[in-house]
Amino acid sequence: MSSPPPSEGPFVAVNDACTTYGTGPDAVRALAHVDLQVPRGRFVSVIGPSGCGKSTLLRLIAGLEAPDAGDVRICGRTTAEARAAKVLGFVPQVPALLPWLDVLGNVRVLEKVNRAAGRQRTQRGLASDPVALLTRLGLGDVLTRRPGQLSGGMQQRTALARAFALAPDVLLMDEPFSALDEFTRESAQLQLLDVWQELRTTVVFVTHSIAEAVLLSDTVVVMAAAPGRVAGVVDVGLDRPRHHGLLDSAAMHEHEHRVRALLETAWDPVSGTPTGTPLRTPGAAGREVA
Ligand SMILES: Nc1ncnc2c1ncn2[C@@H]1O[C@H](COP(=O)(O)OP(=O)(O)O)[C@@H](O)[C@H]1O
Ligand SMILES: [Mg+2]
Repeated sequence: MSSPPPSEGPFVAVNDACTTYGTGPDAVRALAHVDLQVPRGRFVSVIGPSGCGKSTLLRLIAGLEAPDAGDVRICGRTTAEARAAKVLGFVPQVPALLPWLDVLGNVRVLEKVNRAAGRQRTQRGLASDPVALLTRLGLGDVLTRRPGQLSGGMQQRTALARAFALAPDVLLMDEPFSALDEFTRESAQLQLLDVWQELRTTVVFVTHSIAEAVLLSDTVVVMAAAPGRVAGVVDVGLDRPRHHGLLDSAAMHEHEHRVRALLETAWDPVSGTPTGTPLRTPGAAGREVA
């Protein structure tokens, strides 16, 4: 870690956060009294049906929005302080690469910007070597390609490399693999795990795939909608490093079952979620929600 937290306690702490969009009868309670604690070096996923406030929660942690009530702390700092210190990395659903730069250039560009801004960071291992990082993410042969010449999976892995190359203390990811087909997605998940296993960045990862949440995470936070809230938490006690063979193991299925059961417990048609909207759609692997 480049900068030790000024205080003890969780690395990411969301305390009793509330966010409401709009007013009057059209008001949407996106988050109602949400608590989330992420210890340093943990991989935590947030899962829940569409509209339950996952992206809102991530934007609060990123400091892109302030909660109406409650508090967010990153390494003991306010989100404004954390943003100023550039301890946060963000990987959005759409990779947003610079089209005129090649893969390597896209990963190096923020490094140059930060150096120009006088930011001092002690990067470790992989994070200090963009070529090694891209190679570990399966992009060693496409370093000189532009984004327009890449598949969706390659683009998203380039965005991951760019985020890891900044060696953030906290990496926030909002459904980064949701647009990928199932096979591409599984390999991207395993490459992400491979890099994370070495760097051990603190991660908050939003997904709507139960299998993805269990495979990647130490902890899965299950949310419910209307109002957006935490329905429960599942600790994933699967050994690391995790591998492809886990996907069909009994232990994996047992954890998936626990997450699904919590999602179904949280399912309350009376609460405002449209009747008939399934928590689980067939999806490519039959493990998707919303
Ligand atoms: N800027 C906004 N203005 C109004 N409503 C919003 C805004 N952002 C999100 N919402 C609403 O808040 C709820 C939570 O949204 P979001 O956090 O995007 O959910 P998720 O990421 O879980 O799908 C949804 O009902 C959404 O329509
Ligand atoms: Mg979202």
